[in-house]
Amino acid sequence: MNPDNSENESLKLLQKAAATLKGEEKTAVIYFSLTGNTEKAAKLIGNITDADCYRIKSLNLPKFAWLFLSLVPPIIWRFVRIPITIEPALKLTDYRNIALGFPKWGFTCPPIASFIKKEKFQGKQVLPFMTYGGWDYERFYNKMCSTIKKKGAAIPMKLLIKRNTI
Ligand SMILES: Cc1cc2nc3c(=O)[nH]c(=O)nc-3n(C[C@H](O)[C@H](O)[C@H](O)COP(=O)(O)O)c2cc1C
Repeated sequence: MNPDNSENESLKLLQKAAATLKGEEKTAVIYFSLTGNTEKAAKLIGNITDADCYRIKSLNLPKFAWLFLSLVPPIIWRFVRIPITIEPALKLTDYRNIALGFPKWGFTCPPIASFIKKEKFQGKQVLPFMTYGGWDYERFYNKMCSTIKKKGAAIPMKLLIKRNTI
């Protein structure tokens, strides 16, 4: 864990994450980003590992609407899945190594929750990376990691990046 890491530390951690994923098999960097921070981190990891990058897109809503949805009690998302598309089209079975990026949002980041719910990670190595503003982020991140693990993935490293350090 790297709470409140500085710019240099963030870069080092991103490089470490990339080194962890770099192997003979191709890596997929898959991310959701509303305001560009997670995208920056995703592109850094993608460039270092020469990975294929995929962007998760969802409804075209204003920030306040996402804020509202992020505060909907998580139990609701067990029954509702917000629509997502992935650009370019993704075939997850082509990859064993995945870096999965998302922002910390309230109780849930619905687009990434939809993605995790939809996909199977059995036998895959998934490195979840999260950018955050600065409140209640470790609990959120750990919960995301345990959800991903429950879906069969191994998590080689944890990576938290404060938004103003990338
Ligand atoms: C809808 C919404 C909810 C957010 N909720 C939190 C939060 O609960 N805790 C926190 O630390 N940051 C929160 N943030 C800040 C984001 O986690 C942070 O800005 C992140 O880097 C955004 O990533 P992005 O630029 O890839 O979208 C929130 C931002 C948005 C837009």
